[in-house]
Amino acid sequence: MNYQVLGSKNKKEITELFTSVFTSSEGKEEGKLIGKLSSELASTIDNEETICFGLYENESLIGSIFFTRLQFKVPIQVYMLAPVAVSTKYQGKGIGQALINYGLNELKKSSVNVAITYGDPSFYSKVGFQVLSENVIQAPLTLSMPVGWLGQSLSGESIPAINERPTCVKEFNDPVYW
Ligand SMILES: CC(C)(COP(=O)(O)OP(=O)(O)OC[C@H]1O[C@@H](n2cnc3c(N)ncnc32)[C@H](O)[C@@H]1OP(=O)(O)O)[C@@H](O)C(=O)NCCC(=O)NCCS
Repeated sequence: MNYQVLGSKNKKEITELFTSVFTSSEGKEEGKLIGKLSSELASTIDNEETICFGLYENESLIGSIFFTRLQFKVPIQVYMLAPVAVSTKYQGKGIGQALINYGLNELKKSSVNVAITYGDPSFYSKVGFQVLSENVIQAPLTLSMPVGWLGQSLSGESIPAINERPTCVKEFNDPVYW
């Protein structure tokens, strides 16, 4: 298996992976929604605002993860992990955690300060995320499930409280994801 930095040229395989994984795990509608989101994100990968990594086995994409920048007026680098998918038949073998750890380590190498995600705390706590209060870092849109707002410092320092609402990339600027 090998990790690669993906770009817009990988849009088709990225879209197929996210569509099929989320259709299997969450149903047809969610598969369509996250497939569309992954396709839009893939079109805008620039390795600054939007970053994407892939994991290949025998030249087929079996895992992928996106990180997108949350933009603040203060100088701090904060990225949001979402979405992530591991091909259905490869799930439950530690690949998802390895892929997330790989991505977080790449961000660390680029001096990113904080990683955020929005999901199941019982899964994401396995890869270092903890519940994050919006008194510390606010979400760009209103959260329907505030217990799923999670963060971790990548700098070794504690996460600083930032007194402003960040903006997210335009692809996430829709209440349906929050
Ligand atoms: C979530 C996902 C990326 C994890 O990848 P994976 O390779 O299956 O996960 P790993 O094998 O590294 O880790 C498995 C552990 O996570 C837990 N886990 C896996 N998926 C989970 C989920 N959706 N919710 C909660 N826990 C989950 C398992 O119980 C397991 O715990 P254990 O190690 O204590 O037994 C993968 O299952 C997936 O693509 N799921 C469908 C899409 C999705 O839900 N993506 C995340 C939201 S964006």
